[in-house]
Parts: sequence; C-alpha cells; structure tokens
Amino acid sequence: MKQENDYNPLALDVPHEVKRLREALNKAGYDTPHIAALLRFDVGDARLPAYRAGSKELAFAMHYAKGDAPLNTLVQLFLLGATVNLEAARVAFAPSTPEALLSMGLLEERDGGIATSFQITPLEHLLLLADPHWGELKPKHVVSAGAPSIALAQATIRRKSRSTLDVGAGCGIQAFFAAAHSDQVVGVDRNPRAVNVAAFNAQLNGFDHVEFLAGDLYAPVRDRRFDLIVANPPYVISPESRFIYRDSGLKGDEIAQRVIGDGAPLLEEGGYLQLTCEWAHLAGTDWRDRMAKWFGGTGCDACVLRFTTVAPDVQAEMWLRSDPEVKAEEVPERFRDWLAYHRAEGIEAVSDGIITLRKRSTGPNWIRFDDAPKRIGQCGPSMERAFAAVDFLTATHQDETFLEARLRLAPDVRWEQRLAPTPEGWDVRHSQLYISAGLAYRGDANRQGLSLAELCNGERTVRQVLESLADPNGPPLNIPGVLAVTRQLVEQGFLLPEKEGQI
Ligand SMILES: C[S@@+](CC[C@H](N)C(=O)[O-])C[C@H]1O[C@@H](n2cnc3c(N)ncnc32)[C@H](O)[C@@H]1O
Repeated sequence: MKQENDYNPLALDVPHEVKRLREALNKAGYDTPHIAALLRFDVGDARLPAYRAGSKELAFAMHYAKGDAPLNTLVQLFLLGATVNLEAARVAFAPSTPEALLSMGLLEERDGGIATSFQITPLEHLLLLADPHWGELKPKHVVSAGAPSIALAQATIRRKSRSTLDVGAGCGIQAFFAAAHSDQVVGVDRNPRAVNVAAFNAQLNGFDHVEFLAGDLYAPVRDRRFDLIVANPPYVISPESRFIYRDSGLKGDEIAQRVIGDGAPLLEEGGYLQLTCEWAHLAGTDWRDRMAKWFGGTGCDACVLRFTTVAPDVQAEMWLRSDPEVKAEEVPERFRDWLAYHRAEGIEAVSDGIITLRKRSTGPNWIRFDDAPKRIGQCGPSMERAFAAVDFLTATHQDETFLEARLRLAPDVRWEQRLAPTPEGWDVRHSQLYISAGLAYRGDANRQGLSLAELCNGERTVRQVLESLADPNGPPLNIPGVLAVTRQLVEQGFLLPEKEGQI
C-alpha cells in the first residue's frame, strides 16, 4: 500500500489512462449539478460541502449515494471516502479499469474492495484532485479549493496573458482558471506532492500549456517574465508551522511581503500581480503607511482591497476552530500560544484581503486602499476598472481638466428605493445607488446625486452637468462638494469616463 503522504503518489506517464478516467467521470455526470441532486445540497455555494469523517452530513450523504450506478460509485469513492466493490468500480471506470488506476496510484485495495486516498471536486468546468477532507490532515496535505482560492479566482484580472505564474499552486486551481486566457501557465509549489497532484490535474483537465515546478516562491522561474502572477500563499499570521498549505514558517506577514517584493521584478510592463493574504496592524504604526513601504521601489501601482480587520483573539479563534486537528482539550494552550505570539510581535489587529499590483514604469506610482463591499462576485473586471479609474482621476486631477471630461453611468448601476405608507402617502425610507455586479458598492442617493448620475450620459462634459444641476432659483451649487462626489463615483465605478480605452 502507498505511504499516505508520499511525495509523488501519482504516475504521470500514462496520460491516455487519465484521459479515460476523465471520460468515465464525464459519462457518469460527475459534475456539481448532478452531484448536488444526488447528495441533496444547495448548489448556491460555489463549493461542495466537506463531508468530514464521523459527521452527520457524511452519514446522510452515504445514505443518498448508496447503490451501484456509476455516479454513486464515483461519489462514494471521491467525495465520501468509502470503499466500493470491484465490480461496481469496473462499471464506473470504463473505458478505464480499476487495475490501471490501481497501478497509477489513484486507487488502492482496502478491506476487500477498492478505495482511494484522494478526493476529486468539480468546480465549474474543472475537476480538481486533491488530498481528501476526510481523515487526518498531514503536513504536506494538498488542499482543494477553499474560500480564499475562490475569492482570488473571482478577483483575478482576466486579460489575455502571454505568460502567467501561479505561486503556491497547490492542486492547480488558479493556474487552470488562468489557462483559459493565457498562452502559457506555470505553477510553482514548495511541496513536491502538490506539484505531482497539480500535474495530474493538468492531464485530467486536458491542459497541455500548463506546467508545474517544485521550488520556493519564485526560485524556479527567476529568469522568466509574466503578464500575470497570482498567489494564494500560506498567509496565516500565527506561531504554527504544521501545514505547508497554511503556515509559511515566516514571521508575521513576511510571506506577503516576499510574494510582492520578489514578484514585482518579474512582471512585464502593464502586468498584474494579485495575491490574497493577511497583514498585521503593528502597535504605533498606521498599517497603510507600513504597507506603502512594501510597494515602494516595486515600480507598481497598487490596489489594496480589505475584507476584514479583527482583533488577534478573533483571528486566532477563527483559525483554531477551522483546524480539524485541534482537539477541544488543546484549545486553551493553543489559544494562549497564538495570543502570546501576537503580543510578542506587537500585532494589535489582523486584516485580510486581496492586493493587486500593476507594473507601470512611467510616472509616479500610486496606491489605492478600499474596503470591500459586503458582496463581491466575479470582480476581476471591477479590479481592472479600479486601476483605470485612478489613472483617469490622476490625469484629470486639476479641476479644469476634469470639468472637460465626459462621464457616463456604468451599465450595472441600479437605484433601489424602499417606501413606507404614511397618512400623507408613500414616504421614501431608503434610497440607494448600487452596483449590481463585481465589487458591489452602494451609497445613499439624494435628489442631487440621482440627477448628477442621470445627467452623466457620456455627451455632456462635467462642466455642462454642473450647469444643468444648478437651480437658478435656489442657493448656489457647492461646486467643490459636487466635484468631490463626482470623483468618488468614478473611483467606485458608478461613473465611467466616456473616452474609449480610458476605463
Ligand atoms: C493556501 S494553499 C493555495 C493553493 C492554491 N493555489 C489555491 O489557491 O487554492 C498554499 C500553497 O502554497 C504552497 N507553498 C507554501 N510555501 C511555499 C513557498 N515558500 N513557495 C511556494 N509554494 C509554497 C503550499 O504547498 C500550498 O500548496
């Protein structure tokens, strides 16, 4: 039997057999809608539920998945960690065979039947093999897609890329999403087991322009240059160094600093580097000033999209809770260790979010800090527009220039009102403009704001909009105030410059 955390568990020299496996999975309907129908969960979530060993969820799922139909057999094996009988496996894996998959290292004989030490998770058009969520987590565990993986994938700027790098590739999720808009993709991971698994996934998903290399951060690709670098590194700020996928072994937020500092020189002009990470708020220092130093000298503009900021105990509790290897009786000691670590490092709070850099060697670079709106969907296009908005606002920072610009309302802006009945008729209790896609910012909309939005039709200049807004019988218009609001609406994506290519 194979050692559970073997470095190279899967044979990579039988791609035709992996192709047959994919055929079998496709034929059985091994995708999110069919599996959701079988296991009766809501497909609203982008990811499948994790059926942990010993959980009630697993017990119910086993009940729903029982039977020998190919989809049932494959779900029992690859999502529920069960052992199936050889005959059912033979039917489910045709045109491949259990024998071929046993010798490839994917299947193993267990308790007189066939089992596997891997899970296969469908995610959109991908099938991602990874180490399983059932059983014990090992130090070299290769994770499947988690919430930060999905957030980064959604925020990635998906322009055409000649060459893309995925740092800390794991099972390859970011690399595979990038494959659709990249001529070449390379994934790097310090865990050789992850490199093996990701290379297997490249075969399973039919990508022949995606390669994976073992190494520390950028070491294997020092001489290459990229239009896009994406990284979901092991960023958790903690005293732990147990899991390679979670713990960098570096102090505080040093891993984020290294991904940025060592990655920026590898960007082509105009190229983007995007990473998801935590960062520390240190006593006596403004986190924005501290972070600005990370970007200084990179030759990049930067957008920092902050999701949350929490006290050290909240951050520690969140990670300790989600660690299935931490037993209840260990919590007091572990919690104390984490808090002592944060105190010793002078960490007063921890933020998380997505940082995006763009290489621009012309003119002084800028930094933009945003708090993410409550809802974030596929926000890659919004991220790209955020860069264009700051470019535009920088170019038009003098009022005279801004007044000559033409703006238009973004097509995904919506106006929402809630009214309550009163004896005098309907009373407006809530009036907001919001963006319905991507970074879904929203803000209170008064009459003047609504008129401003409506007047920005792409034909009038900002000066003409202001002239139309002014009420000849009312008080004079607060021009600096209206200009500030207009600029903020551009910054948040409600208003777009009309000129082609500006946003
Ligand atoms: C949080 S996982 C992310 C996996 C995947 N990219 C995703 O988005 O789901 C972090 C990955 O970084 C890898 N890793 C950890 N330290 C690394 C380093 N110094 N250099 C390269 N990869 C590293 C881990 O092995 C793990 O696969």
